[in-house]
Amino acid sequence: MSDAGGNPELPHSGRAADEILAGVRAERAGDLDWRGGRAFSLVYNVDDPELERLQHEIAGILLHENALNPFRYRTLLRMEAELLSFARSLFGAGAAALSSGGTESIFLAVLTAREEAAARGVGDPQVVAASTAHPAFAKACHYLGLELTLLPVDAGGRADPDRFATEVSDRTALVVGSAPCYPYGVVDPIPELAAIAVDAGTLCHVDACLGGYLLPFWERLDQPVPQWDFRVEGVTSLSADIHKYGYSYKGASTILYRDRELQQRQLFMYDSWPGGLYASMSAAGTRPGAPIAGAWATMVHLGEQGYLRLARRVLTATEGFRAAVEGVDGLRITGEPDLSIFEFGADRDAVDPPDIGAVGDAMDERGWNLDRQQGGLHVMLSPGHDRVVEDFAGDLAASVDEARAGRVATGSGLAYGGVVDE
Ligand SMILES: Cc1ncc(COP(=O)(O)O)c(C=O)c1O
Repeated sequence: MSDAGGNPELPHSGRAADEILAGVRAERAGDLDWRGGRAFSLVYNVDDPELERLQHEIAGILLHENALNPFRYRTLLRMEAELLSFARSLFGAGAAALSSGGTESIFLAVLTAREEAAARGVGDPQVVAASTAHPAFAKACHYLGLELTLLPVDAGGRADPDRFATEVSDRTALVVGSAPCYPYGVVDPIPELAAIAVDAGTLCHVDACLGGYLLPFWERLDQPVPQWDFRVEGVTSLSADIHKYGYSYKGASTILYRDRELQQRQLFMYDSWPGGLYASMSAAGTRPGAPIAGAWATMVHLGEQGYLRLARRVLTATEGFRAAVEGVDGLRITGEPDLSIFEFGADRDAVDPPDIGAVGDAMDERGWNLDRQQGGLHVMLSPGHDRVVEDFAGDLAASVDEARAGRVATGSGLAYGGVVDE
């Protein structure tokens, strides 16, 4: 049934489960096939059928449980406590909490900074970050009433400490660095930013939502990793998403603090409600059990050796994709990416630089789904991408030839998030 505008209304009578499932399976067959290795950024393709089976089954087992009151569902309580302990030891943190994703973790870090600044008597708190910081900081400042000052990055796409030193003042509640930033995959100079925060007597957050669960293993593979975590004096909080390179399914991130005292700023307690004492460590009230169970099971299944094995595959994919881009005359990678994420665009100094928009369109037609950025195309590599390096290289060279032969860009696709308002 539809209303006068053609919008569907709640069906009068329900449909059988098998019929619904068959319909959805058929519909989904036309969606992006991320297991094929030609999708980037929104899904991390671990290419591990056993892990996928585990994730499906564990989600089913704890699908209906609610971690709002963790003491009611003891299995979830144990899982959450264990995975927070794993995270604390991995990052050398004094305290950790779970959230639903990177954006919520960043909200919590900004909230903590606002509360800490208020305790120092700062009434008009400011957050200082580079222009490459994730939009979640703009969103958090907008919601929580802080001013956000964004500073230009240097030629390599990294935060510029000199600009930070000029901007940071008594009213700065939080200095932000990324490890790495999403657009260029470069790690900001965290020791310099943290030192500026220390001098100003304020907090320093490292947004490692993207790289947090990969960097420790990248380091163990003897890759050059700039200093980025609590080993740096002055870093007070850190966000790291389990649903990115931690390889769990969506709905799991960690927000970590150097010490428990600071984490208390994030705690919400309310004792004036007839329904009883309400205490909560994150923004959500009801907390679904499946992401907690999935994150725990993924970490226990992979263990250090599993994460190391997957990091090795990401490294192989990264080397292969970078070589593919560098092997095409007229393309260049932006800056010097530290990890498995990068942007590439037209090399303006080349004799005949291709129209990178046309290259993106030609790649789309070949089944690749490269995200468009302001300066070019974006690549974020998962373990499963190591299987498609040769295909990528061949299709990229052919797409550049097409662009050079006069293909005109459609100008589509410069979007990272979207809104469903129907
Ligand atoms: C560096 C960085 N920070 C934060 C986020 C936000 O994470 P989420 O989309 O899980 O809220 C992202 C997402 O890609 C990111 O790349």
